[in-house]
This record gives sequence, structure tokens and C-alpha cells, in this order.
Amino acid sequence: MNILLLGSGGREHALAWKMSKSHHCDNLFIAPGNAGTAQFGVNLEISVTDFESIKRTCIDQKINMVVVGPEEPLVKGIYDFFQKDEQLEHINVVGPSAEAAQLEGSKAFSKKFMQRHAIPTAGYAEFTVENFEEGKKYISQHPLPVVLKADGLAAGKGVVIAITHEEALQVFEEMIINKQFGEASSKVVIEEFLQGIEVSVFALTDGEVYQVIGHAKDYKRIGEGDTGLNTGGMGCVSPVPFMDGTFMTKVEERIIKPTINGLSKEKLNYHGFVFFGLMNVQGEPFVIEYNCRMGDPETEVVMPLLQTDIVALFAAMDNGTLANANIEFYPHSCATVMAVSGGYPGDYKKHLPIEGLTDLQTDDSIVFHAGTKQLDNKVVTNGGRVIAVTSYGNNIAEAVEKSKQVLDKISFEGMYYRRDIGYEF
Ligand code: AMP
Ligand code: GLY
Repeated sequence: MNILLLGSGGREHALAWKMSKSHHCDNLFIAPGNAGTAQFGVNLEISVTDFESIKRTCIDQKINMVVVGPEEPLVKGIYDFFQKDEQLEHINVVGPSAEAAQLEGSKAFSKKFMQRHAIPTAGYAEFTVENFEEGKKYISQHPLPVVLKADGLAAGKGVVIAITHEEALQVFEEMIINKQFGEASSKVVIEEFLQGIEVSVFALTDGEVYQVIGHAKDYKRIGEGDTGLNTGGMGCVSPVPFMDGTFMTKVEERIIKPTINGLSKEKLNYHGFVFFGLMNVQGEPFVIEYNCRMGDPETEVVMPLLQTDIVALFAAMDNGTLANANIEFYPHSCATVMAVSGGYPGDYKKHLPIEGLTDLQTDDSIVFHAGTKQLDNKVVTNGGRVIAVTSYGNNIAEAVEKSKQVLDKISFEGMYYRRDIGYEF
């Protein structure tokens, strides 16, 4: 089978690594990819939203399957683009339709969906410029902290947890009146704050049945001890000790099954990953958000722990046999630790040479590239998050330790990573 993978982060390197192990994978192309994905296939300089160039590649390279890494092409309708085109409709696109991708693309859509299907989530209200004054009143009377969310995609920056009413009102005005995130913040969801521990759960679905393929705890803050600014994710661990049978049964019964049944009942065309961003509130799961893709860096631990052939699962999803799939996991703990550019999540330099990348592979560690590229025969930095080192261990602490040992051999100007990933376990 010829496969095209879209994206360029650590998630895509981990997917490429996993897919390349499948005997169903003959040729792998990655658009645009990074210096790491090039180890497993051919990188193509095509943007993930350039559907016409993607189409040409699919025809020229006789692609049978397209795996969509990031959310943007999904929300922009890549699935529908393929379905509507005679030359492309036979291709198995792993990802939901634009309508179903609204579960991630619109916070208001996902909140209404959860309400319709009685899926536990924080209480909320939504506001636009039309009921702005009403929104101000609502915020002023809301218990603190209060969560404000830009409705649309805002590159991970659209959520603010306000500690005071003044701050909340200021953010509200910034989003709606000053259009801080453009169209994405023309609608704002105001939500109750949930106190608990976050965990990400991943499923594959064809819109009728599903299989859970893993879970992970992500460390989002830049600073050790979970301090400082939010990032895309500084590290992940899996399995998470509290994800035992009792909690997982609640997640499946109260959240995953009602979600998949909801997709089916509403005839939302979904054919890909569902990322359940959950909060464990004293042993009870609530949905914080849905994403219509895998997480990054969650994929960097979920793929290494998944024993089952992922390409076979994608094929099963396409031919109606997903229910029969046998999902198996390796019995280890896994951790990934992300090395980032100096200054991230604020401004940072790019194209800095990365030293020490050769001969790092051991049986227990995998070096995934997140933001890198090949420039004049050298691997250089090309993003905020640069390298994620994943390791297996007998427990989380051992896995984290191994990743740190590998990271200590890698260097680039300004490189930083959290040394405390998995500290609670
Ligand atoms: P989101 O973009 O929806 O993932 O939100 C970003 C982050 O904000 C989440 O990962 C949580 O850490 C936090 N967050 C979002 N909604 C809530 C909530 N209702 N209560 C507490 N924290 C939240
Ligand atoms: N690590 C969180 C995300 O991928 O959204």
C-alpha cells in the first residue's frame, strides 16, 4: 500500500515510525515532514492545506491511504475534498469530515453535542457581539476561576483561565470586540473551572464502532512543577496509574460510547482518531475538549506502546472490520521528554544546528524529531518543540530517566527540557 502522511511534527515522526513497521506499508510519503520522517519515507514540500497539490501527489504516486496528522486540513474539509473527487474517492482518508471535525473546530459545537448526548462536561454558556452585555453580566456573577474559550481554532492559545472577574471581562472584550483571534473569537464559550488531573484518551472510530488505542498524561506548562506558560506539550507518560479498570469503565460508558453513538445518530461522517481531553475530578471523568486527531506529544508514547499494526487498523476502519480488531499493548511504561527552543512558547530562533544526533538509538529509546529540518546536510531546529525522546522502562521514573540520559547527549543553542516529567508517579 502507498501511504501519504500529512504533517511535520513529533506526532508525524511517531506515526511514520509506527506505520513503516507494517508489512502493509510499501511506500510512505510525508508532506511536508521533517528531518526525522525522512528516515522512513520521502518528504514532499507540500503544505497540509494545499489540497490541489495533495491531489496531484495522490494520483502520481498511486496513494491508497492518506493519514492526516494535524487538525487544520480536517477542519478545512480534506476528507470531503477526497469524497467529492472521482479520482480520489477510493482513497482511505484517516480523519473525519469537516462537519464532524467541528468537535474540535468549534467549542460551541462540541459543547452542544455533549449536552445532546448527556456527556459529562463543565457547565457553560456562549456569547457573541449580539449578546455581549449579557455575557459581561454572566461573567461578573460566575464563580472563580472562570474559563473563557475562543470558539474556533486559535493555535492552542484560545483558552484563558481567569482568576479574577476583571481579567475575565478584559479577555472577553479582547476576544469579542477586539477580535483577538479574528473569526475564531467572534463567539466565546464561558465555562466552569474543573479541578482535577488531565488525561488524554485516544480511540479510532469508523463512526459506528471504536477501539481505544491508548492514553497519556501530557505536561503542558513550560516550567518544572507545572509552572509558567502553556505550551503544546513538554512531555508525556503512559500508562497513567489512575487509568485503572474502574476509571476506564466510567470513561467508556459515560464518554466514549455516548460520543460514538452520538456521531452515528447524527450521521456525522467520522473516520479517524478521536482525542478525548479529559479531567479526572475526584475519580469522575469529564470532557474538557475533543480533538479530531492524535495529540502531540501523546502520539510519541501511544504509538510505541501499541503492539497492533496501525496500518491494519486504518484498513479495518475503512472496510468495516474495526470491531474485530485485536488491540494489544506492550507491557512497559513509556515516557517522552520534549527538548524545546530557548524562548518557547514565546519567540525563539530557528535553523540552529543540532549536535549529537547520531548513534543515539538504543533498544529502549527512540529519538523523534518535532521541529527539525535538513539544511545543507545538517539537521537544524525548525520550531518551538524540537526533539522528543521516548523511552521504555519498567516504570515511569525509569523511562523518564532514560530519555533524559539521551537528551543530555543532544545540544543546540538555547535548548531546554523539563527534568520533572512524570514527577507525581
Ligand atoms: P483546550 O484548548 O480546550 O484543551 O484547553 C486548554 C487547557 O485549558 C486544557 O488542557 C486544560 O488544562 C485547561 N482547561 C480547559 N477547560 C478547562 C476547564 N473547564 N477547567 C479547567 N481547566 C480547563
Ligand atoms: N498535547 C495536546 C495536543 O496535542 O493538543
